[in-house]
Amino acid sequence: MRKSIVAILLMAMICTSLFAAGAGEAGAVVMNAEKPVVFFNRQPSDPVTGEIDMEVMNWNDKTYYVGFDAAGGGAVQGQLIVDFLASADPAVVDRNGDGIIGYVLCIGDVGHNDSKARTQGIREALGTWAGSTDPGVAQEGSANVGGTTMKVVELDSRAMTGTDGTTWNANAATDAMGGWATRLGDQIDMVISNNDGMAMGCLQASNYPAGVPIFGYDANADAIEAIGAGTLTGTVSQNVDAQATATLQVIRNLLDGLTGDAVVTAGITEPDQYGNKISAAVDYVPETKALLAQNTGVNASNWTEYQAGARDAGIKQTEAPEKRVILTIYNSGDNFLSSSYIPALQYYAPLLNIDLTIVQGDGQNESSCLDRFMNLNSYDAYAINMVRTNSGRDYLDRLQY
Ligand code: BGC
Ligand code: CA
Repeated sequence: MRKSIVAILLMAMICTSLFAAGAGEAGAVVMNAEKPVVFFNRQPSDPVTGEIDMEVMNWNDKTYYVGFDAAGGGAVQGQLIVDFLASADPAVVDRNGDGIIGYVLCIGDVGHNDSKARTQGIREALGTWAGSTDPGVAQEGSANVGGTTMKVVELDSRAMTGTDGTTWNANAATDAMGGWATRLGDQIDMVISNNDGMAMGCLQASNYPAGVPIFGYDANADAIEAIGAGTLTGTVSQNVDAQATATLQVIRNLLDGLTGDAVVTAGITEPDQYGNKISAAVDYVPETKALLAQNTGVNASNWTEYQAGARDAGIKQTEAPEKRVILTIYNSGDNFLSSSYIPALQYYAPLLNIDLTIVQGDGQNESSCLDRFMNLNSYDAYAINMVRTNSGRDYLDRLQY
């Protein structure tokens, strides 16, 4: 008799504390390990080989990656440059008239798949690809310049790591550009950068050779304005609105209880139950559980279409039940994430009724992000952008209990 009363009391205590810890609306307790986890922008992968970390991606059946078609984007960037050269006047582009198109390259983050894909896309398009995305590994290439075939040489390339260890560092690009302009002078016929932050950094160099064509990537607002002003030649849009919405939409779908294909189609390739659908193309790659937005080249002919403030009209205010999500950003100083991605997230999250808590790191120490990845019981889902692409496990370990 006594025993069973104790048992009943114990059960009651356990139940109350479980409910207090994280009861959902339906009253069921969801363990953190069973909640949705969406990695975005920095794909869990090996920094050296680029191989996608499927152990992390298979953490639970609600784990996904949202990014963009990196390989396709590299090709778009390469094509943008090739098209520019094809319609250029050789006498103008070849500044020192040596019959060679010389270029310098800002790589960004040698351990990041997006960076690798762009380096490869550029080098393949210009024939300088020598089988490696490492700085300095390039061969002599060739390109059609206004109807004439000319040699192409990669004069130098750098990762662009800041003095503090941060990657994709715009200040490092300013310094490197200053050095290149002094050392290489009019051998430099083009400047190519794997992101807009570094391209804008190059343009900041006081001795930037005025008028030398320069290409970036991301279609950040300042880069688009620079195209309009004629200082930046071209960039690539990785369709940040589609990515930011897809990150939130997958979480929404999972929290709404969708399963199977619906998780990656509702609101993405077909309207969801609220009538929302992302307007741009976002493809699903089942092998890597990745949703990837498509890229488009941007230059003087179409830059006005990419001016800031254009949001996806396909996403409207819903009456979906409110959910809480914590989202990490690897580096509060990253130009693309802070000037493009976060504003897009902040625009779409309220429409999807997602209460978003954004925590930001310093771009060099994983702990700067991990230490802010806390109070995990009080969130319904997690969105993760790691400092290092092979740190996914460290975040997941915190969801184990
Ligand atoms: C962007 C870069 C950015 C990086 C951050 C890339 O996709 O193009 O500008 O620095 O993501 O992870
Ligand atoms: Ca030349």
